[in-house]
Amino acid sequence: MARHLITSAIPYINGIKHLGNLVGSQLPADLFARFQRARGHEVLFLCATDEHGTPAELAAAKAGKPVDEYCAEMWAIQNEIAKGFGLSFDHFGRSSSEQNRKLTQHFAGRLADEGLIDEVVTEQIYSQADGRFLPDRYVEGTCPNCGYEDARGDQCDNCTIQLDPTELINPRSTISGSTDLEVRETRHLFLKQSQMRDRLDDWIQSKSDWPILTTSIAKKWLHDGDGLQDRGITRDLDWGVPVKRGDADWPGFEGKVFYVWFDAPIEYIACAGEWVDAGKGDDWERWWRMDKGADDVRYTQFMGKDNVPFHTLSFPATIMGSNEPWKLVDYIKSFNYLNYDGGQFSTSRGRGVFMDQALEILPADYWRWWLLSNCPESSDAEFTWDGFQAGVNKDLADVLGNFISRVTKFCNSKFSPDIPKGGTWGASEDALIAELQTRLEAYNAHMEAMEVRKSAAELRAIWAAGNEYLQTVAPWSTFKTDPDQAAAQIRLALNLIRIYAVLSAPFIPTASARILSDMNTLDTQWPTDIRTALTALPEGHGFNVPEVLFAKITDDQVAEWSERFAGTRD
Ligand code: 2FM
Ligand code: ZN
Repeated sequence: MARHLITSAIPYINGIKHLGNLVGSQLPADLFARFQRARGHEVLFLCATDEHGTPAELAAAKAGKPVDEYCAEMWAIQNEIAKGFGLSFDHFGRSSSEQNRKLTQHFAGRLADEGLIDEVVTEQIYSQADGRFLPDRYVEGTCPNCGYEDARGDQCDNCTIQLDPTELINPRSTISGSTDLEVRETRHLFLKQSQMRDRLDDWIQSKSDWPILTTSIAKKWLHDGDGLQDRGITRDLDWGVPVKRGDADWPGFEGKVFYVWFDAPIEYIACAGEWVDAGKGDDWERWWRMDKGADDVRYTQFMGKDNVPFHTLSFPATIMGSNEPWKLVDYIKSFNYLNYDGGQFSTSRGRGVFMDQALEILPADYWRWWLLSNCPESSDAEFTWDGFQAGVNKDLADVLGNFISRVTKFCNSKFSPDIPKGGTWGASEDALIAELQTRLEAYNAHMEAMEVRKSAAELRAIWAAGNEYLQTVAPWSTFKTDPDQAAAQIRLALNLIRIYAVLSAPFIPTASARILSDMNTLDTQWPTDIRTALTALPEGHGFNVPEVLFAKITDDQVAEWSERFAGTRD
């Protein structure tokens, strides 16, 4: 049994996430976690809300609430929606936790002790109108790299370059819109990432099995221009982890906080502590400390491409720089962007379908299946209502749903709602079993490699093989001349339904659970030998004919939803 630590990028607290966010980290991470659990491995799957920094402050101000209250409410909402989507986190934590505060201050202290922190007098944007400094997203303007006009002070969403607010062309305050901005001096801590360049470079070079999307972004930051820059890790903000050196005050930094991107990844570790403190586990260090048992853990991170620089360089710099035996990530699976109907999904502009809205109109499994089978893996992908309708109707309704319905209804009407006796399997069954065995092995390999689209395609082919078998052996005809033979065929098909439920559970967990319950079985054993697995439900085993599993999405619904989601949400 292997041990898998799995984290999804932690979503900002500033509102409900859209489907593009979901498919870029949480959903594929859940697919992988469910698969590894189903294979019998020990899994710790963690996610949290990213509650500090300007996204939180700006959203709370917009909602007219104190930021701590806003975060608590929004965490509860995100937590519920995550459950609605079947995201099987072992813990959904909060980066504003006590555990993260302590750990963040601890790392800062360690880095300082290792001589990796500089105190630097920096120039920051100060707004006369707002009477305060404007770090990160408190400023927007034109990107100096690509010319995008709504680039944020910390990063351009268009070209993903990391920015300093002073680099923006025509900067404006996002609080007041004021352009009456000046540059003032203020003291900040800098992490001397540049000193760790060679170590990071060697580490990235050693990851030859990582997706190109991940390593190409990391290499770009390591080698382009002046190479890896030292990074400011503190901010002039009220909300965040107060700057301390371990337990001690940091003279000159009273009233300042750590930068959100310094404390957010540390929450991956703190979240394991929250998991223990919530009574769900008893030892978090065995997942995170190499000296306390984490040496046999395989750690996989999931994230969108805009998060890659922080996970390939900044966070590893924190971990390595601490000179303590923390677990480093083993594999980073990153994703491109999912676009929405000819444009971008956008939280700030409310464009696209958001997770709460998606659940209002259709069950989670419809979204899970379409999003995963069309995820932006090797390039950006596009959500269109027609594509969504076609994918769901064909794969879930016509292929999987139809197979289950045909088999169970036929058995019920010609035999009884029990697995029928009689007959033997012959050449057609041997051919199907051989095909399924090959496909199962391919499916396992793709899932293991986190090749999400290939996994979905293989699963679809496994479903389709069942329908093709039915077409070939036509038990409804066989029944007329040889009912025993039809019984053998239908016995196989009923057992195949159980196998489908087990193999499909990582993609469509709710439907899978329903199918298993209708098949009246608790046997969720992942198949190894298909022939054996096809005898798991014995002759005489009773089942229920399922209600419609996947209703088709109609043209009227598509028309209504295209219109409803064309604009922006309030
Ligand atoms: O892009 C985002 O949504 C960030 N909140 C991701 C943070 S991931 C991690 F480092 F914590
Ligand atoms: Zn840009």
